[in-house]
Amino acid sequence: MSGHLLVTLDGPAGVGKSSMAQELAEALKIPYLDTGAMFRSVAWKLGQGSWEWDEARLAKALSSLEFRLHGSGAASSLSLNGVAVGQEIRTETVGLWGSNLAKLPVVRDFLKRAQQDVGKASPLVAEGRDMGSVVFPEARVKFFLDADVNVRAKRRFDQLREQGKSPDLAELTESIRVRDEQDRNRAVAPLKPAPDARIVDTSQLDKAQVAALLLEAVRERL
Ligand code: DC
Repeated sequence: MSGHLLVTLDGPAGVGKSSMAQELAEALKIPYLDTGAMFRSVAWKLGQGSWEWDEARLAKALSSLEFRLHGSGAASSLSLNGVAVGQEIRTETVGLWGSNLAKLPVVRDFLKRAQQDVGKASPLVAEGRDMGSVVFPEARVKFFLDADVNVRAKRRFDQLREQGKSPDLAELTESIRVRDEQDRNRAVAPLKPAPDARIVDTSQLDKAQVAALLLEAVRERL
């Protein structure tokens, strides 16, 4: 069990976990770990169809991967085998590949160990799907963010538009819905709130309101 401050943020795709993790980490002056980026990076590195490999092949490929967390606050960043994880993993397709790999115990066990190693070395805001329920059950503060799938899809849509892209809202909504269903219904570490997590529905709140609410809750607990 770690003596560090651990804050966990879990929730479905597109609910705003990453931006809230950054805000909290910046305010608390500690690093944040985007564990979805770890699943995405493994998927990107091993490639399409790797979720159909046999377990021995997957285990061997995983054993050659090393994640490191650098920096702190909003400037926290992840590297894989010494190379910074970049924007190449931030597509809905790579998100779905990550979700496919995330069903496999061999992948989950490997990443759980890597995530716990980071949490042992440093205080942390950890965001993902099973941070409070499985990876850091001892965390001092746990949140589960949720929002209606249409609200999440619209937020992602606006974000992509801001980046100069031309997303299709119906396609985006469908891909988020498929990924949610897969993440919620898998046998190992499905997406669900830890029993002691505070559930925050962000459907009617803007970013600043969610950040203020989370920060106040963390400060109350400390
Ligand atoms: O948070 P994200 O969209 O970047 O995550 C990509 C996929 O990785 C997600 O659909 C399921 C998987 N994932 C997981 O199973 N457990 C985590 N802690 C984080 C992500």
